[in-house]
Amino acid sequence: MRLFALVLLASATLIPYEDAKPILEANGRNISAAEWPAWVAKRNAEIRARLAQGDEDSVVNLWLYGTSFTKWPRVTDREAAQLASSEKVQDLLLARLDDFVAAIAKPGTNERLQFARDLVTRKGIDLTTETGREKAKAYLVEIRERVIAENERYRRAAASPSEYSTLFRDRGLSSDTRLTASFAIDKALEALAASGWAARGGVKRVAIVGPGLDFTDKAEGYDFYPLQTIQPFAVIDSLARLELTAPADLKLTTLDLSPRVNRHILAARKRASLGSAYVIQLPLARDQPLHQWHPDLVAYWQRFGSMIGRSVPATPAPAIVGDVRVRAVAVRPSIVKAVTPEDVDIVLERLDPLPDSERFDLIVATNILVYYDAFEQSLALANISKMLKPGGVFLTNYAVTPMAPMETAASSTTAVFFDRQQNGDTVFAYRKR
Ligand SMILES: C[S@@+](CC[C@H](N)C(=O)[O-])C[C@H]1O[C@@H](n2cnc3c(N)ncnc32)[C@H](O)[C@@H]1O
Repeated sequence: MRLFALVLLASATLIPYEDAKPILEANGRNISAAEWPAWVAKRNAEIRARLAQGDEDSVVNLWLYGTSFTKWPRVTDREAAQLASSEKVQDLLLARLDDFVAAIAKPGTNERLQFARDLVTRKGIDLTTETGREKAKAYLVEIRERVIAENERYRRAAASPSEYSTLFRDRGLSSDTRLTASFAIDKALEALAASGWAARGGVKRVAIVGPGLDFTDKAEGYDFYPLQTIQPFAVIDSLARLELTAPADLKLTTLDLSPRVNRHILAARKRASLGSAYVIQLPLARDQPLHQWHPDLVAYWQRFGSMIGRSVPATPAPAIVGDVRVRAVAVRPSIVKAVTPEDVDIVLERLDPLPDSERFDLIVATNILVYYDAFEQSLALANISKMLKPGGVFLTNYAVTPMAPMETAASSTTAVFFDRQQNGDTVFAYRKR
């Protein structure tokens, strides 16, 4: 007789009522056990529907900052300041819009342009006709107006400490990611290591909530290299440098609700199993008189990837992008294969059942919880806590209110400066008792 081992695989499971109950009570939400399954299913669908608006925001960024479809300058703050009059900025935007819409009508193999085409055609706009292309322009102008109005609202709200940590609670869910977030986590891991958190090589299971996909970042990002995710590889690199992990022993899981992000990571894994490295491009704009990178960030950019791959020739930045240095790192296939994407909405779902040996030593979530209100942040923390090992740590760049068994960790806050003008981030560490 042949024996088959029964392997219980963890999959995304909705947060059970008993775990949510204290959070519901603390937040004055009157939802009964009987109502809970329907409430969670509806809310999960609503959260996931926010991705569509994030996609629109990304397409606006591509129109403003992309260089793959136009010879016109990028509409950066610096460029706008140099143009001096708002009419000239408007003319530049419209010249870019003409080129952008012509390019998305015939996107060829350009992934970003294909994405923009799909977004526009989903609105029922036919890009093959002149009328359709005019409609596409009107639609893009409309989205940009929404984005400008929202940015103004966020700029004002950011000044209020009570609003800060839930600032984007009604914003579209974008996939934006850039190196600075991983630099901040590198600094926080350094502080954790110094606090004696984990033994040498003791970190074996890591989760990244919302790894993101660099499309054309809202912070004047680029489109001259393929779409890429950075954080999963950055965290492995940092853990290996700090000797907290031996890469061969590490398994990293990404937890994201974006099908685009999950598909991207899955495709990278498939290519890695055929022996292909994953190449990450690392652009770093040259210092400007009013914007000079912090030397620690520059050092991080220079050493990025040394523990997980090797430097390879970078995709040069086109002249139109301005003065940008680019490094590239080819991440070893064995590292890429250690990364497994899972479709999880961290507010309402967790991987369950997760055997003790598969629970995480470390969970990282940067630039995610800010998209939710305090109630949803507490639900997310309950899900994160459930997946952590005792003693495991959660790192986030927006403070949350810890609920037992989560508590503030020994190296609780790490302030990180990205530039000499003291712009930066703060990473908060919570530990599971
Ligand atoms: C703004 S990006 C941040 C990317 C990266 N962590 C960083 O800081 O650069 C937000 C990411 O979180 C994901 N995300 C947003 N809400 C989520 C949720 N409820 N559960 C899981 N992932 C979520 C998005 O799809 C996206 O990949």
